[in-house]
Amino acid sequence: MDIQNLLFSLFCFFFISLFLGHQQVVEGSRVSPFAFRPKKLFVFGDSYADTGNNRKDLASSWKFPYGITFPGKPAGRFSDGRVLTDYIAGYLGIKTPIPYRWRKELAGRLKYGLNFAYGGTGVFDTTVAEPNMTTQIDFLEQLLNDSVYTKRGLKTSVALVSLAGNDYSTYIARNGSAAGFPAFIGSVVNQLTVNLKRIHDLGVRKIAVSALQPLGCLPQSTARFSFEQCNGTENTLVDLHNQLLLQAVNNLNKETNSTSFFVLDIYNAFWNVFNQKEEHQVSTPTFENPFEPCCVGVSAGFSCGSVDEHGEKKYTLCSNPKSKFFWDTVHPTQEGWQAVYSTPALQNSLKQLW
Ligand SMILES: *[C@@H]1O[C@H](CO)[C@@H](O)[C@H](O)[C@H]1NC(C)=O
Ligand SMILES: *[C@@H]1O[C@H](CO)[C@@H](O)[C@H](O)[C@H]1NC(C)=O
Ligand SMILES: *[C@@H]1O[C@H](CO)[C@@H](O)[C@H](O)[C@H]1NC(C)=O
Ligand SMILES: *[C@@H]1O[C@H](CO)[C@@H](O)[C@H](O)[C@H]1NC(C)=O
Ligand SMILES: *[C@@H]1O[C@H](CO)[C@@H](O)[C@H](O)[C@H]1NC(C)=O
Repeated sequence: MDIQNLLFSLFCFFFISLFLGHQQVVEGSRVSPFAFRPKKLFVFGDSYADTGNNRKDLASSWKFPYGITFPGKPAGRFSDGRVLTDYIAGYLGIKTPIPYRWRKELAGRLKYGLNFAYGGTGVFDTTVAEPNMTTQIDFLEQLLNDSVYTKRGLKTSVALVSLAGNDYSTYIARNGSAAGFPAFIGSVVNQLTVNLKRIHDLGVRKIAVSALQPLGCLPQSTARFSFEQCNGTENTLVDLHNQLLLQAVNNLNKETNSTSFFVLDIYNAFWNVFNQKEEHQVSTPTFENPFEPCCVGVSAGFSCGSVDEHGEKKYTLCSNPKSKFFWDTVHPTQEGWQAVYSTPALQNSLKQLW
């Protein structure tokens, strides 16, 4: 290489460095080339996203030891601390939107959006008597009708839509088996698609919908294998859901001639975490056995937070929730969500926001 070439290479190197450096600054301050600056986050779905909508007298999320890490006491999140919603709001650079049930008491916070998600719900009615996703979207429509929000205001808004499988557990509970499951998966994704389109038609600019996590790897399924192994049958069904969802999202973007819709790849994000090995990872948390939960009922019929009629606790709690990926038999810990959020799969998904 002669000196001219060398200088040219060096020049290119500096130029690229400058350019990349600039890109990073731009990303850090959340200014995109299209100047989309999200101001509000609207959240729909279930316990992976609920930050306190569930009724205090019914939901485990309001019982000790839920919330012990954040905010330090039970406050309606299905975790020891923060959940997906908190990390997405953080990414957008806005405060976590308040739960819908507190819209009157905390009206000053409406400017960050609202969280309509209720633990236990699905696109169809489930075993909990909480509003399904259709009704959650009705709540936003009502607030638009009441001029609490404007269609114009929604143009700078993002929606997070979480569907973590309550339709499927309800189906199995009602039907006793997984027979007829593929057809049911089709109808769940169809209903979800209708819901996503409605959120778009209300005026929300960007809509992130979660892929289904590997259900067969939740402690409720791995318990049978001493928390060592996932249920492959369940994960195969999850694959079908996720394939149909991706197709549906692509079609929605075509139909609306937009890039409004995108999938948050929670599925591969969970796998990224499960496959992490201690020695290769420094920046993201790792977990000894990611399938083993922190807080579990002492026997069937009891769950995390259960107490008997004498107030005697009927669950065991690990000594350090930070060392566990799962909090209870279905929900990640705060550390778990932090790890999911930090994965390449999730970070790459989030780039579609810009
Ligand atoms: C959602 O709930 C409402 C109110 O209970 C009900 O009328 C509607 O049929 C439900 N929607 C779906 C898709 O299950
Ligand atoms: C909002 O207003 C529209 C138009 O008047 C109406 O069709 C719709 O039912 C209203 N939605 C709710 C949730 O009240
Ligand atoms: C149970 O599965 C069968 C077989 O596909 C299906 O026809 C039926 O609708 C399901 N029942 C319920 C309650 O979902
Ligand atoms: C795996 O999950 C399916 C569907 O829930 C269930 O029918 C089956 O018994 C599970 N397999 C094992 C080995 O637990
Ligand atoms: C889709 O959007 C692009 C860019 O905004 C525009 O150039 C094109 O004409 C649109 N196509 C249709 C079919 O609306």
